[in-house]
Amino acid sequence: MDKLLVHGGTPLTGSINISGSKNASLPILAAALLTDQQVIIERVPDVSDTNYMLQILSALGCEVERYSGTVKITAANIHPEAPYEIVRKMRASICVMGPLVARLGRASVSIPGGCVIGDRPIDLHLKGLQAIGADIDTEGGNILIEAKDGLIGKEVDLRGKHGPTVLGTDNLMMAAVLAKGTTVIESAACEPEVMDLADFLISMGAKIEGAGTRRITIEGVESLGGTHHTVIPDRIEAGTFMVAGAIASETGITLNRVRKDHLQQAAEKLIEAGHYVDFSEDGSSVTVKPGDDPQGCKILTAPHPGFPTDMQAQFTAMFATTPGISVVEDTIFPQRFMHCAELTRMGADIKVDNGSAVITGVAKLGSAPVMASDLRASAALVLAALKAEGTTEINRLYHIDRGYEMIDEKLLQLGAKVERVRGSV
Ligand code: EPU
Repeated sequence: MDKLLVHGGTPLTGSINISGSKNASLPILAAALLTDQQVIIERVPDVSDTNYMLQILSALGCEVERYSGTVKITAANIHPEAPYEIVRKMRASICVMGPLVARLGRASVSIPGGCVIGDRPIDLHLKGLQAIGADIDTEGGNILIEAKDGLIGKEVDLRGKHGPTVLGTDNLMMAAVLAKGTTVIESAACEPEVMDLADFLISMGAKIEGAGTRRITIEGVESLGGTHHTVIPDRIEAGTFMVAGAIASETGITLNRVRKDHLQQAAEKLIEAGHYVDFSEDGSSVTVKPGDDPQGCKILTAPHPGFPTDMQAQFTAMFATTPGISVVEDTIFPQRFMHCAELTRMGADIKVDNGSAVITGVAKLGSAPVMASDLRASAALVLAALKAEGTTEINRLYHIDRGYEMIDEKLLQLGAKVERVRGSV
């Protein structure tokens, strides 16, 4: 297991390119199962989660070629059984359910196991598929989905107790594109990643309207064809580096290949906290610089267009050394506060209670060996370490490698003093 040593206190400077979105890539890769024609997808980040998805696709019979950020997939001869050994490594594997049942009438996928960021049920995924005619059974830890008479479009409300579901919306949309008739998804997730999947499917010949709103209408078609698509920039990676610019630079850092319209929530909160955020005229790059008088503020996560849960850990790390009191509440994953105990080990003053963290800014953090517990929690630890005094040792780096492409190299490019120590426990 690799670990990262961060020698804190060196101001970041310069610019980096933001990678393609991990969370947009995963369902888009799965959607390649919907056609026997070749699809070409560009700007797929080289992170372990996309690698797992490509391994699943290969195991399902797809021909997969990958060179730098470009992935070519041909799903001419596929079978419906996703192997447990790979599926268990990544929850997003459940995205293959919708496309498999739509294309083959059948799918067998392992039930995802526990997750450190909280309970992550898949009832809404199953509700969606059932509503359009799939029979669902479980056997030996697998979900068996079958649509003997084909899928038939219907109106489905996918709202759960924590709001809409991103991958649940994706799964139903991917199944419905080949169903007979019209499917209407009410209370759909409207994250930019859902819109990117819809754009990908439309470019394959699907008929989808309303992606990006709470109501998506899908008119089923007989078959889909090949396509060539470029994945949107990763707004969470960009947001993470925006926070880095606010807390660990002096003159600011610039992030290229971003989309301003996807970064409104992070930008607004940084500005509210007293920092400077400047987008280029075309919105494709952003410079973030620390303010002279930063102040704590309140964050409440919510489904898009609200503040993303995937950014709350990084802002918590920033608030750890921001004067005043900040409050971070996660309504989507109320248990997603594992980073707080580790930040406390570095000297932060954070009280976590019932889905909220109250952070009293301290003057500085010190270094300590800390443990990454999940993807965004790890990013929070890296951010805190950039500002901390001394050397912070971040263990279990594989969590960050799931979703941040070459994070150590990007930090080095910005002048940070970081070292990846390979193969340590
Ligand atoms: N939920 C249900 N039932 C379901 C599905 C979800 O109750 O069947 C609940 C969840 O427990 C949660 C809420 O609904 O409380 C929203 O979860 P959602 O289904 O939207 O999450 P997801 O689609 O599994 C994606 C991202 C996550 C991100 C969430 C929320 C991918 C691969 N994952 O997960 O990203 O936190 O949406 O925006 O797109 C990450 O990148 O670090 C990450 C965890």
